[in-house]
Amino acid sequence: MQAEKNVTTIAISKGRVFEESLSLLAALDITVEQRDLDGRKLLLTTSQPGIRLLVIRSRDVPTYVQYGVAELGIVGKDVLMEFDGDGIYEPVDLGIAKCRLMVAGSEAAVGSSRRLRVATKYIRSTQRHFAAKGQQVELIKLYGSMELAPVLGLADCIVDLVATGNTLKANGLVPIEHITDISCRLIVNKAAMKIKSATLKTFIEQFKRAAEK
Ligand code: PRP
Repeated sequence: MQAEKNVTTIAISKGRVFEESLSLLAALDITVEQRDLDGRKLLLTTSQPGIRLLVIRSRDVPTYVQYGVAELGIVGKDVLMEFDGDGIYEPVDLGIAKCRLMVAGSEAAVGSSRRLRVATKYIRSTQRHFAAKGQQVELIKLYGSMELAPVLGLADCIVDLVATGNTLKANGLVPIEHITDISCRLIVNKAAMKIKSATLKTFIEQFKRAAEK
């Protein structure tokens, strides 16, 4: 798939981010037909012929935008903090899909002085967090359901997203440290910002206004 001259492609994380993005997009007069939303199409046309949506795994959103296949992207800050590429700007905090990146674990892990084993899929953020505190930890990479790790003794604690806190509670875990607040960001391909400057600046302004509402 190539970037098309007269089409702007917006890559969006599937799931909760995509669902919450729909109202922001509606504020920009961009809507998707219900039958397309119900289906499994990943490349969606919209009410505006010049705009299409690419609905993909969150971790792929920055990559599609970095390579300019999508000029714009909507993705969580948690994903951007793990992304080690370049070539993207992050001009707008869209204020959707809000949650917190936290260290959590069993009560026993709270205040423990031994070297902790930390299970997470947020390796970079976790490394940065503990390095900033001068605390050495052992990291265990997982891809999901992190809450199980302390329950089954794989790790002392986890670094994961917490929204309502229900998943922690349901697994007998407690929040230990708040690392940072997370929300979705609008990202833009840097080269496209030069080539399609007027179009993309208009989008950025419209997203800013929609996010402020
Ligand atoms: C996220 C996160 C927690 C849960 C927190 O998982 O990893 O498991 O949501 O939400 P809560 O505080 O409201 O309970 P998600 O469902 O996004 O799936 P994941 O396991 O793939 O990360």
